[in-house]
Amino acid sequence: MCGIVGFFGNNNNIEIGLDVLKRLEYRGYDSAGLAFFNSEKKEIFCLKTAGRINLLEKKLKESKFDFNGNPSIFHTRWATHGEVTDENAHPHFDCQKNIFLVHNGIIENYRELKEKLIKEGHQFSSETDTEVLSHLIEKFFQGNLEEAVRKALRLVKGTYAICVISRQDPQKIVAARLSSPLLIGLNGKEYIVASDPAAIVPFTRKIINLDDYEIAVISPEKFFILKEKIPEEIEFTLEEAERGGYSHFMLKEIMEQPESLENSRRGRLILETGQAKLGGLESVKEKLRRIKRLIIVACGTAYHAALVGKYMLEEYARIPVEVEVASEFRYKKPILDKNTAVLAISQSGETADTSAAIKEAKEKGVLTLGIVNVVGSSIARETIAGVYNHAGPEIGVASTKAFTSQLEILALLTLFLGRQREMSLVIGQRIAREILKISDLVKEVLENSSQIEKLAEKYKNYNNFLFLGRKYNFPVALEGALKLKEISYIHAEGYGAGEMKHGPIALIDENFPTFAICPSDSVYDKMLSNIEEIRTRKGKLIALATKGNKKIQESADDVIYIPKTLEMLTPILSVIPLQLFAYYLGLLRGCDVDKPRNLAKSVTVE
Ligand code: AGP
Repeated sequence: MCGIVGFFGNNNNIEIGLDVLKRLEYRGYDSAGLAFFNSEKKEIFCLKTAGRINLLEKKLKESKFDFNGNPSIFHTRWATHGEVTDENAHPHFDCQKNIFLVHNGIIENYRELKEKLIKEGHQFSSETDTEVLSHLIEKFFQGNLEEAVRKALRLVKGTYAICVISRQDPQKIVAARLSSPLLIGLNGKEYIVASDPAAIVPFTRKIINLDDYEIAVISPEKFFILKEKIPEEIEFTLEEAERGGYSHFMLKEIMEQPESLENSRRGRLILETGQAKLGGLESVKEKLRRIKRLIIVACGTAYHAALVGKYMLEEYARIPVEVEVASEFRYKKPILDKNTAVLAISQSGETADTSAAIKEAKEKGVLTLGIVNVVGSSIARETIAGVYNHAGPEIGVASTKAFTSQLEILALLTLFLGRQREMSLVIGQRIAREILKISDLVKEVLENSSQIEKLAEKYKNYNNFLFLGRKYNFPVALEGALKLKEISYIHAEGYGAGEMKHGPIALIDENFPTFAICPSDSVYDKMLSNIEEIRTRKGKLIALATKGNKKIQESADDVIYIPKTLEMLTPILSVIPLQLFAYYLGLLRGCDVDKPRNLAKSVTVE
């Protein structure tokens, strides 16, 4: 790893710079160099050599050059491109010896850039990728160094931490970073730039870490940071945002869940090790290994997804999870500590309550994560790390494919965290295999949509509905009720089935039908007794059961079947008939299913 130092000091600059450079020797290197601007001679002195820093110092003494240089840059090189030679050591410079720079990182597209620059007449003196940068900056230099650096870096693919000085714009150091660490130490009117804090502690403890795409301009008069706004790719094309032949966005988005689940999962499952690869969490992987508690904040449908995630994470990753309605979390006094992480789930990434909850958590210094569908949205930028759903644009106000995508991402997160902890290879592989199948199982459920349409016709005159579920399907009961409310304006309640006897059962009579979500899982028998409670009170009952369960037909007026899968994944299947039920009932009631009254797709106000 190369070591970088930039120094703008009052005196003894070269000695201080070399002292700091020596503190970077541990990073390993094969050559060293320096450059500094000499104001009397109005030129930049540069000396570099293969070998150790003490050889550089020896050659410096022999050069008898006047040492009072300001600014100065220093470098230890660990060769990536080009032999270990004096010419390949840093600093590198341009044709006119106006631009001198040191670099830590790799310019991945240096070959094509170098070819183009040579065609434009630039002469190169080394075999390194770095030298391309000095000629690129030369190409754009018109008197302002930071402007030229900015334009040059826009053409660069790869990683960099650089310090640049210029003979023609001498009173500044320009520093920039992308993926390679770089920080600035402040000591009154003296500034030092370095690759890591350890090297500058003897000089100062006040530092500013540069973030990716930031360009710092350092001089005694002023010090400022430019933030390159890198355009984020809008993921979807126009036709995707169009309805694609469906009568409503809501129906399109329900029907495209097999594809959206594929997209959410693509490249994120490692079957052979039963793990999930979540690139957006790589930077905080070790922190996540150490967390002992997770708080999930969300609203509406995303809140229901979070409730399912709680069951997954507690059962398989053994992490205590608290799920909080974001609008409540933001005003309470949460108990947070360094072992807690806060996860926001939000389709739009703009929900005011969820955004405020994350800001609150961030204020308290805890790790904040996001599961967000809209790339570049506020919550995605607000959180330290996260996972994009890649579910495609969700235009219908009712959240449907985003919900099942959130559930899938939470299953991947369960794998990610579980396999960092006690989850065995076998369990991990089993979950991974089941996740891989889920899109096909969703297709199977969707093939039943005409049955759901008929059910909606049968139940269109009821003005109340109860949705019941247990464990993983308790949140699905809440979600089914929310869908029906917001799309058809029919009053509906979602309840944990075990709660029936504590009050809601008083509602049940022949005018108050119930949707019982009762797949053949660990709580199926308990659901059966709740179903019996409904029947004895003449309540109409629609059962959502696992394919092959014929017996349930004796207890229900209607049965909708879903295929078998892992209990933790059933919500992805069981929610779909409820989405369709709400959609068809909304149509029958003449509601605007894509833009229900009083609702907004993204609730950006409190
Ligand atoms: C869900 O169908 C609703 N549109 C609403 O509850 C939504 O889930 C909630 O506003 C949260 O939105 P978000 O996922 O964009 O944060």
